[in-house]
Amino acid sequence: MPIRFDGKVAIVTGAGGGLGRAHALELARRGAKVVINDLGGSVDGSGGSSDAANKVVEEIKALGGQAIANGTSVTDDTGVAGLVKQTLDAFGRIDILINNAGVLRDKSFSKMEIKDFEFVLDVHLLGSVKVTKACWETMKAQQYGRILMTSSSSGLYGNFGQTNYGAAKLGLVGFMNTLKLEGQKDNIRVNSLAPVAGTRMTENLMPPQVLEALKPEYVTPGVIYLVGEDAPTGVTLAAGGGAFAIAQIFESHGVFLGHDGLTAEKVADAWLKIADMTGSKPYFMGGEQTGKFFELISGK
Ligand code: NAI
Repeated sequence: MPIRFDGKVAIVTGAGGGLGRAHALELARRGAKVVINDLGGSVDGSGGSSDAANKVVEEIKALGGQAIANGTSVTDDTGVAGLVKQTLDAFGRIDILINNAGVLRDKSFSKMEIKDFEFVLDVHLLGSVKVTKACWETMKAQQYGRILMTSSSSGLYGNFGQTNYGAAKLGLVGFMNTLKLEGQKDNIRVNSLAPVAGTRMTENLMPPQVLEALKPEYVTPGVIYLVGEDAPTGVTLAAGGGAFAIAQIFESHGVFLGHDGLTAEKVADAWLKIADMTGSKPYFMGGEQTGKFFELISGK
């Protein structure tokens, strides 16, 4: 079955270039009305102009699609309220939100100033929270919503020089984990993406042939699936160069060490058993872990 978005309205943040632009174009090709948000600043978040967003709107119109531009920063409360109002005034609903806007301020932790840490958390984590919050009640009232967070391998696994970015990116997975539970009864599904793509953000890190193999367009099909009618919820999709995989947190089965004489040395002695990943499982919600602990305590 083709995945279509006729009658659906999507907001894509940071869609003036790179991955966001590719997602927005494909949504429009498949019938969505799209709001192209982009502050239009540089990779480190300085400057700003709505040219980038306007250009993508023109591209979509040239394809016969419908789109409008918005130049607010996702960090600006008034601007975010305006983004949602503009969307509802123009198109009357919000079905899909792709939180994609992002910046980099890489430095080793020794050299990183707290303001660079705060700035990156502000754009990625709080920016996604603010736009999601502004759309949430509309999605609940519609009994329909598809939300995507843009995470990163830096958050899932780490990357030198990116303590700020990594913390923000894994924070988004934590945000998703609870939001997916709260959205369930209202048919709001929430997923995350850990992309790899040649964009202005990564162009200095990779040689041209590699960039060619990692076009943003090779990530977008995964995104389209995750914001479609039949999307799963609570999934983190890793995607790059046409390859797709799922990232999940697994927990070892664990071992009950008793209550009498429970010491740090006992933990040290049992370490290989504690860390044995045989029979490890991912959980859909935190309470499942507590349930597992009670099973261990009761000797199951
Ligand atoms: P990009 O720099 O082309 O796109 C980011 C866009 O966000 C830019 O157009 C920028 O103007 C916009 N933006 C920045 N701050 C904003 C703000 N406060 N409000 C609104 N718009 C803002 O880079 P790319 O690679 O397309 O990145 C898209 C997302 O994917 C980002 O969240 C990034 O962290 C993430 N990502 C990218 C990877 C890659 O390999 N390219 C790897 C992992 C994650």
